[in-house]
Amino acid sequence: MNLDLQDLSFDRGGALLVKRVLRSTPDDQAITITGTAPDLLVHLRAWCRAEGHDFRLSDGDHAGAVVTKRSAAAQRWAGAERAGRADPLDPSAILDHPPQRWGLAARGALVESGSAEFHFTLADKVQVWSSDATRLYAQAAAAQWDPATAIPWNTPFDLPDEVEDAVVQIMTYLIENETAALIVPSRFIAQLHPHFRETMQVLAIQAADEARHIEVFTRRALLKGRELGVSTAGGQASLQTLIDEPDFATASFLLSVLGEGTFLSLLWFLERFAPDPVTAAVCRLAAQDESRHVAFGLAHLREHVTADPSVRGALKNAVLRRYDTLRYTAGLNTEVFEALVLMAAGAWSPADLRKGHDNVARLIEDMHAGRKKRLLRLEFTESEAEELSRLHTRNFM
Ligand SMILES: [Fe+2]
Ligand SMILES: [Fe+2]
Repeated sequence: MNLDLQDLSFDRGGALLVKRVLRSTPDDQAITITGTAPDLLVHLRAWCRAEGHDFRLSDGDHAGAVVTKRSAAAQRWAGAERAGRADPLDPSAILDHPPQRWGLAARGALVESGSAEFHFTLADKVQVWSSDATRLYAQAAAAQWDPATAIPWNTPFDLPDEVEDAVVQIMTYLIENETAALIVPSRFIAQLHPHFRETMQVLAIQAADEARHIEVFTRRALLKGRELGVSTAGGQASLQTLIDEPDFATASFLLSVLGEGTFLSLLWFLERFAPDPVTAAVCRLAAQDESRHVAFGLAHLREHVTADPSVRGALKNAVLRRYDTLRYTAGLNTEVFEALVLMAAGAWSPADLRKGHDNVARLIEDMHAGRKKRLLRLEFTESEAEELSRLHTRNFM
């Protein structure tokens, strides 16, 4: 058997021809390979050594080699394994405990044996998987909006000074909360076994959503040339407990189910009472994104607590612990609270302020009702849901 590569060099396509011929060559049979490309034999010899085929220079006038196919070459893939299945709907797609040696391989790829072990700490299906992840990722990808065009930045408006100050203070508060909401999922992406591709994608697009929220809230705050408002120690202490939480289930429970769930009420409230169209638009767009973040948190935690009901106790303890840690901090800063009242009042008359205050009180009750509803969906009892919701941080997130 003879293969003439002519002037084709091994590293510029010749290798394909050699492999093709060897595929149809029986084991232990020799083929003669010739060609005029410089270095052909050097490359061919190195390749044969790596693949386990015999190589010797051919006798005769033309530069060439005799390659004898050895079955060791086939054995390179003998210990290889299929890393689950790419299609998440395939019943054998997602493993309960994908091995660390699969590393970064695409789910469904044939993984050569002998790969180095990786160290993904979130590597159990029960901790991270939700059958809703595929749908929620697709929904999020389709719902991405462009801050430059989705918000009517150029609509002319002018607010009374104190109302503009109130908006700026609320935006300042929102930005630091969004920053926590960006950092928490980002930290877990780095620990997640890539076998759970759809969860990784959901968390990544969630972080991208938060990046946009930070951008538009900042841009609204600066729209009229003001300085940003205040950031308080109490608010930061509350957010720090989220950033420092090492457990994925606990962190998503505190952040997505309780915190972002509470923010849904807040953002829709801000959209309703916004004194200008830009504030209304940034809050509406952020609220739409947040509802997906809440949905994913609920979806994977529901599956987790169903598989392991003891997790519910751990989540409950996390709320109690956090309450205890934050017990002597101020919670929501007065400046934010008063800004909300003023925004909902719309004017300074005593009657308007009473109405604004009542609206904020209704917001707080609405937040509580939303948290309770979500806690019940995780099958906490009625009294647990009531208690845990009441103990949720006064900083809202
Ligand atoms: Fe957000
Ligand atoms: Fe979020």
